[in-house]
Amino acid sequence: MTEESAHDGESARDRIVRTDGGSDQGVVRRDRFSGGPARSFLSSLVADERIFEADLEVDRAHVIMLAEQGIVEDDVAGRILTALDAIEVDGHASLPDGEDVHEAIETAVIERIGEAGGKMHTARSRNDEVAACIRYRVREDVLDAIETTIALREALAAVADAHRETIMPGYTHLQPAQPTTVAHWALSYEGAVRRDTERLFEAYGRINESPLGGAAFAGTTFEIDRERTAELLGFDGGPASGTRGTSAEQRSAVVIENSMDASSSRDFLLETVQALSTHATTLSGIAEDLIVFANRAFVSLSDDYSSTSSIMPQKKNPDTLELVRAVAGDAAGGVQGLTTTLKGLPRAYNRDLQRATTHAWETVDAVIEASEVAAGAIATADWNEDALAAEAGAGFSTATGVADLLAANGLPFRTAHEVVAIAAENGADYDAIDAAAAEVLGEPIDSFVDPEAVAAALDPAESVATRDSRGGPAPEVVADQLDDARDALASHEATLDETSEAIEAAHAALREEVNEYV
Ligand code: ARG
Repeated sequence: MTEESAHDGESARDRIVRTDGGSDQGVVRRDRFSGGPARSFLSSLVADERIFEADLEVDRAHVIMLAEQGIVEDDVAGRILTALDAIEVDGHASLPDGEDVHEAIETAVIERIGEAGGKMHTARSRNDEVAACIRYRVREDVLDAIETTIALREALAAVADAHRETIMPGYTHLQPAQPTTVAHWALSYEGAVRRDTERLFEAYGRINESPLGGAAFAGTTFEIDRERTAELLGFDGGPASGTRGTSAEQRSAVVIENSMDASSSRDFLLETVQALSTHATTLSGIAEDLIVFANRAFVSLSDDYSSTSSIMPQKKNPDTLELVRAVAGDAAGGVQGLTTTLKGLPRAYNRDLQRATTHAWETVDAVIEASEVAAGAIATADWNEDALAAEAGAGFSTATGVADLLAANGLPFRTAHEVVAIAAENGADYDAIDAAAAEVLGEPIDSFVDPEAVAAALDPAESVATRDSRGGPAPEVVADQLDDARDALASHEATLDETSEAIEAAHAALREEVNEYV
């Protein structure tokens, strides 16, 4: 097939492109579909600024592959690549009008070098092109998101390290439940954010595959080399450490095999937005806890992360954390918007997909910002150890520990629970426990357990120190959790660095290839 045959019903002469700058009519669209009331509705050019650089890279890789395959002449490739460089310098804002960045860049190339610029779009479609651009760009966004999750985990680990022994009240149902430590609280969120990091790495692996060469959806008659464009764009199927169990060699170029799947699937975006939404949900819990803790004077937020009232001069409000909490709503909205856009779409490409993409950009930006703010708020917050200690035993939060003590001394736990429940109603101290024992068991408490042990169980710090089961709050087992957190951080940081380097290396290698032509 020749390029011409793709343009049914038009002679080559009809198609001779205008080089008179008539982009109102459009050199790509010519005078069909070039105007009308729906023109701006159709266009994604503004939102496409986000994939401007990506599109240039995708164009470069495609043109180099076309030249290597002998599909376009080397000198034509050189002229196109030179034009692409000039277009990059001029920037997205200088692009001619167009339905989207792909059309506008192609138009700009043709305006610069004439008809030969039209060879750039040989053996591809905007459908595989846009899918490649989105993957190329969201790949970087996901690495940014991963970086913020890591910074947040570092902030949480630092709080844990500084507050291994800082006793605080722990809550269930927002009611005092059992004393714990600030370290135990902080590491509870480090674990959750760690999984958020892992989910993003996993999403990255499936983003980082090449749809290029899928063309409109049905492949092409040209002898393209899909692995080559995948390689040139660094689509290697994973984060550097290969969470998907593939070796570095296997990962050198990963192509999405089926061309219809390649050009029309967006599950990689849905998965990414879902992972971000999960992270935003984790963030909302952190924010809510800090808002409650600030309200109780357990923690004092830095002024940088607080706001005041325009009327009440004394106020210091946790506004930034309230916004972090709210971003979980935005992100859930992003998942909903994307899912409902994708749901029920028929194969293959449909223009609905254009509106799917923006949900991803909005979610990525909102969640990354919220994650950075949460990390900053945590890193700069001051924990009020006295206020925390004073409240740690409130609401008879040591009751479970007392019941555990009685059970450890031979009482069935259910009976111990009953004794302590009665004591809770009657003063929640040693005497109340003694009286409850007499009532339920017919004997004083000291016939079951050493009174000193009871006194210790009633002390919040002792209560924490004795809860040394794996993963519990006792400082020595929290130290193990902190070690785990640090190990995971080091490994994720290394993977992030190597993955960013892999992208950089692909970018530099592509530049070298381009330099062979320009
Ligand atoms: N702007 C379009 C998008 O975002 C590019 C693909 C257009 N393809 C088409 N067949 N109309 O999806």
